[in-house]
Amino acid sequence: MSDSVRYSLADVAKCNGKNETRTWIVIHDKVYDVTDYMQQHPGGSELIEEYAGKDATDGFDDFGHSSDATKILKKYLIGDLENEDKHANRKKKQAVSNNGITSEGTKKPKQKTFLRILCGKCTH
Ligand code: HEM
Repeated sequence: MSDSVRYSLADVAKCNGKNETRTWIVIHDKVYDVTDYMQQHPGGSELIEEYAGKDATDGFDDFGHSSDATKILKKYLIGDLENEDKHANRKKKQAVSNNGITSEGTKKPKQKTFLRILCGKCTH
């Protein structure tokens, strides 16, 4: 069966386990409902709670889970993150929303880096 259901980060944020909601997390742009797994988690339910309603990719990867953990995770897959909320696109969005400046804003740091390379140790 294909898992073509798409959720936004805002949808995921609503399912943070509070007020009797389910607990959803995002790992590598996929959405998981881990409500029924949390109590069995070898690292304790609190670790997952910390990421409830959020992107848990860093937490999940930082521990270096086994392939068993990845297999278990698949059971709880409920859908994909909407394209515009995917990790790679989120970075672009952040650049755009910086002070309302358009993506032009991202050019400045690049220019600075370029100048820094040219100037060597120049601190001004
Ligand atoms: C959301 C962030 C998560 C964090 C920060 C986290 C962290 C940890 C930690 C610290 C342990 C080690 C526990 C110990 O040895 O005492 C562990 C083990 C484990 N976790 Fe997670 N975990 C997370 C999410 C998940 C999820 C969503 C699943 C699967 C649905 C999962 C499955 C497992 C499994 C199966 C183990 C046993 C060791 C292994 O097979 O890798 N974890 N986790």
